[in-house]
Amino acid sequence: MNSFPRFKSSLSLKDDISFLTKILVCDFQNFSLKSQATKVLKEKFCREVFFVSSFRIGLDIVLKTLNLKKQSFIAVSPINIPDVVNAILINDQKPFFYDLDLNDHIIHEDELQKLKENNVNVLIITYLSGLKPKEEKLQRIHKFCKENNIILVEDITQGYGIEFGGFNFGSLGRFSIGSTSTTKFLCSTYGGIILCDESDKEVVNSLVQNLLINSPSRLIYFYKHFYFLLINLVTSGFLFKCLMFPLLKRSKNSKNQKPKLQHLFDKIDVFNDEFLAQPRKKFPKSFYFNLNNWAFSFMMKSLKNMNAVIDGRRIMAQKLISEIREDLLSDVPLSLKDFNSSYYHFPFRYQGKSQIELREILLRVNIDSVGYGLNYCPEEIIFKEYKRNLPNAKKIKFETIFLPISEKYNADDVTRIIKGINEAFK
Ligand SMILES: Cc1ncc(COP(=O)(O)O)c(C=O)c1O
Repeated sequence: MNSFPRFKSSLSLKDDISFLTKILVCDFQNFSLKSQATKVLKEKFCREVFFVSSFRIGLDIVLKTLNLKKQSFIAVSPINIPDVVNAILINDQKPFFYDLDLNDHIIHEDELQKLKENNVNVLIITYLSGLKPKEEKLQRIHKFCKENNIILVEDITQGYGIEFGGFNFGSLGRFSIGSTSTTKFLCSTYGGIILCDESDKEVVNSLVQNLLINSPSRLIYFYKHFYFLLINLVTSGFLFKCLMFPLLKRSKNSKNQKPKLQHLFDKIDVFNDEFLAQPRKKFPKSFYFNLNNWAFSFMMKSLKNMNAVIDGRRIMAQKLISEIREDLLSDVPLSLKDFNSSYYHFPFRYQGKSQIELREILLRVNIDSVGYGLNYCPEEIIFKEYKRNLPNAKKIKFETIFLPISEKYNADDVTRIIKGINEAFK
């Protein structure tokens, strides 16, 4: 009987091993590919491009560029890594959590008026799961921000590959920031990009030059890449079926506990995101590093694969949508049915069941699944003074699970997954 993992790497094992070997032997102080990588991404996004060590440091630089009045409100998605909120607090600003739209997982339009009432200065919209929001909605948000002097920033991390008809993805915000950390469609293991227009180029450039003064650590890159190679290995067909899946099934009651191996790697991970958010006075100096040639080659490889990866996922998504029982799809985000989404995940909700209940139902038909690993920030103790009641966001965080989706599944796999899902909810 086949079983299906919660995640499948888009990289082949062969490529993974080859890049791991290169970490050991390449010159980690060589940055000569930066101008070539900049040129390629400038062409892709049609904007100025800067490389940073991570999304959180990209946001830190953008907030410093904006040089806002102290204690301004920055509106931010509640489903996020705590360090995004920490970046806001470190820069002497205040977070304003907004509620999300169940249909596309970005800001709910009813929240726009509240931004105005609360004197919000910056709105960060986060594209989650590669869901494509309606273009008219995004245009209305853009117009609202313009009319109300709110600076729009896009978090494009999970959205690489979304296609819009009327404008380029990543071009709506005054700044668009993306993480290129492990598993993203544009990936350099650690890393990030800032996109902006010519008018902001000089200030961003000088901040990047002055702040990113460290070199990346070979050891840290090695550990992170090795960990994901291991995941790639244990989620591949035979090993997953015979070893990992039985282990996962046995440990299904440990719910939110991380496996021991993950604890070990988290200790080594430079940007370790704790389950319980930790407050910060500032980001450690080690966070401010430049990407090197190894990271640029890895990123260019992922870019080369990106279209094939997304095309494969779109084909699978179409099949899931047309063959999963209609009643099971009544609570899924409408954006899943727009095949210009990029399907970073396939979010699924059903009859108000919790993520844990859904996980157990799917485990019975040999599907291992998870939901958003990002924190629900308004309920973190350290951010409690900014808490608001956000019913949709809570449903998205606590009642949503991801169905398997990967360009690596063949037609038989997809048929089995669909059959399993239809049977699981009988
Ligand atoms: C939507 C989103 N934003 C921000 C981040 C943080 O990225 P980084 O680890 O590069 O700071 C992540 C990480 O996965 C993410 O998924």
